[in-house]
Amino acid sequence: MAEPIVSLLDPEFTDDPIGAYARLREMSPLVRIGFPGGPPVWLITRNEDIGTALSDPRLVVDYQNVPGHQGPSLADHAIAALDLPDEFRDYLAANLMLVDGQYHSRLRRLVTPAFSARRMKALRPRIEEISAQLIDALVEKGSGDLIEEYSSPLTGTVICGLIGIDEADQPQVRKWMNDYANANADIAASIRSLVDHVKKLIERRRAEPADDMISVLVQKGDEEGDQLTEAEIVSLVLVVVNNGHHSTAHFIPNAILTLFENPDQLALLRAKPEALPHAMYELMRVANPVPLAGPRYATEDMEFAGVPICKGDALTGSLHSANYDPSVFPDAERCDLERVPKRKESHVAFGAGPHYCLGAMLAYIEGEVALDHLLLQRDTLEIAGSLTYHEPVAGGARPLSAFPVRL
Ligand code: HEM
Repeated sequence: MAEPIVSLLDPEFTDDPIGAYARLREMSPLVRIGFPGGPPVWLITRNEDIGTALSDPRLVVDYQNVPGHQGPSLADHAIAALDLPDEFRDYLAANLMLVDGQYHSRLRRLVTPAFSARRMKALRPRIEEISAQLIDALVEKGSGDLIEEYSSPLTGTVICGLIGIDEADQPQVRKWMNDYANANADIAASIRSLVDHVKKLIERRRAEPADDMISVLVQKGDEEGDQLTEAEIVSLVLVVVNNGHHSTAHFIPNAILTLFENPDQLALLRAKPEALPHAMYELMRVANPVPLAGPRYATEDMEFAGVPICKGDALTGSLHSANYDPSVFPDAERCDLERVPKRKESHVAFGAGPHYCLGAMLAYIEGEVALDHLLLQRDTLEIAGSLTYHEPVAGGARPLSAFPVRL
């Protein structure tokens, strides 16, 4: 009998994702889910299986790496969908998220120095400065929207600074960055403008390096002299913009809402602010804004978690389901800031395996600064109206669209 196909956009998921995922985890380690207009995909529901899948070399992110598969690549699809000129294939094809094996390892090796712990920690004073300025402006007004006037400009400005966008150009670049993720905007036009801007910046940083990501990437090759090409650097900038800005901008309001909904935990943190770095791990587990891992494709017929999978089948992992798996997090539905995880990386908010998030440390620092400034250094922040949500996205999550606050 064919497996039933579950839609994560059904009200069962959008109204009560935690309860619905609990039922799926009980039912099976893998369930078939449907996306509008696409073939069914296997959804992995349990924490340990997701960690295993994201590290399994038989599961690839680029469908072209499935033996026997011929046809357009994911970059070709993107170019066709966005009606971009052919040369843009170069800027989209080296997308870290969408390449496998040795080519992915090479890119990771060359880009990792730009995300070193030392570089990320060095960004903290600037993050604090931007956060303080945004809060001052909100305090002066008395009220405003936490996403539009705080978390989004904070994370957008931080990403611009990380990349190396000159301060004078940041408002324009941030507009392209926001349009890039806005289905109602001209996405192709914003990608073209962003790519043009970054190409000129690469040229300038080659001539005169500064202390930023692009300068590190143009200067530094590995020991064998291997270096990123211009197209690979442009492509990395697009991935960082795509992954690094909105995810963190949504984590911050999610975490604040979680603490308002758990006043005992907020009180605990206010009584012991030095516990914030530890608490961030639990907040990332329960307030994770990224519901699903990207799709993986089986390169051979195989059995996964006891379920037969055919070559070419697509699988994805529910990061939300994994983060609430009671076999790893006892009393998983409770937000417990003093929780000590069983092993170092138990939650999978940042994925696992070779594609593990390159910006995890930066996201933790930004989140920590935001919660410290908004909730610990003051106790006046309160919700000042109805929260509104975007339409549910794949994975059943409903991202917040407006978070009116008073300060
Ligand atoms: C709360 C904030 C964030 C969350 C929850 C998050 C989550 C994730 C997840 C789940 C993945 C893996 C996806 C998969 O395997 O399919 C990922 C990859 C990635 N993330 Fe993040 N991310 C966040 C912030 C950031 C930031 C701030 C940056 C950059 C500064 C960033 C850059 C990246 C990059 C470059 C990858 C691709 C890595 C690779 O494919 O090798 N992320 N992120």
